[in-house]
Amino acid sequence: MKISMIAAVGKNLELGKNNDLIWHLPNDLKYFKNTTSGKTVVMGKNTFKSLPKVLPNRKNIVLTFPDDTEDLGNEVEIFHGIEEFLEAYKDTQEEVFVIGGASIYKQFLKYADTLYLTEIDDTCPTASVYFPEFDKSLYKKEIVLKNSDNNINYSHVIYRRVHG
Ligand SMILES: NC(=O)c1ccc[n+]([C@@H]2O[C@H](COP(=O)([O-])OP(=O)(O)OC[C@H]3O[C@@H](n4cnc5c(N)ncnc54)[C@H](OP(=O)(O)O)[C@@H]3O)[C@@H](O)[C@H]2O)c1
Repeated sequence: MKISMIAAVGKNLELGKNNDLIWHLPNDLKYFKNTTSGKTVVMGKNTFKSLPKVLPNRKNIVLTFPDDTEDLGNEVEIFHGIEEFLEAYKDTQEEVFVIGGASIYKQFLKYADTLYLTEIDDTCPTASVYFPEFDKSLYKKEIVLKNSDNNINYSHVIYRRVHG
């Protein structure tokens, strides 16, 4: 399995507030859809709850600790720990996308080879959750595309791990 992470972050790695996104960027949502369609996506329970519905055309995996998962419906695959998930998927050849939120990015950072980051040229002092700090010297950076929505500029960047 190849583990990738995909996130949209502000200049200070802001990710979200009030269990929602901070910036409304339709072209970035298209990029997210194009990049993850047909793939498996892994998310924490809060992120799943923040979505209007299961993400279509993707296998949705949700991480949650409690055994009672009735409220998550029957369209998602559930794991109660990262190790349990890694064990179940270790022999697959597929690329799995970690799609958040903050707690899940933090736990998966060490396993991820590739980080697809939308780097937004803006800050949000009221953000409540952040992408984890990471050592950029361990990655090769590729700027894929510069984009803009609602007068907010951002870049689609791919960090590929080259060390450690
Ligand atoms: N900007 C972006 O690209 C982006 C992307 C995704 C999300 N977000 C934002 O991020 C925020 C949500 O992030 P968050 O950190 O609050 O929540 P989260 O990471 O989405 O979910 C946290 C929950 O996941 C479960 N969990 C965490 N680690 C686990 C593990 N090792 N094993 C099993 N279950 C585990 C727990 O659920 P239980 O409590 O059920 O045990 C935990 O409460 C929202 O604001 C969202 O909009 C932003």
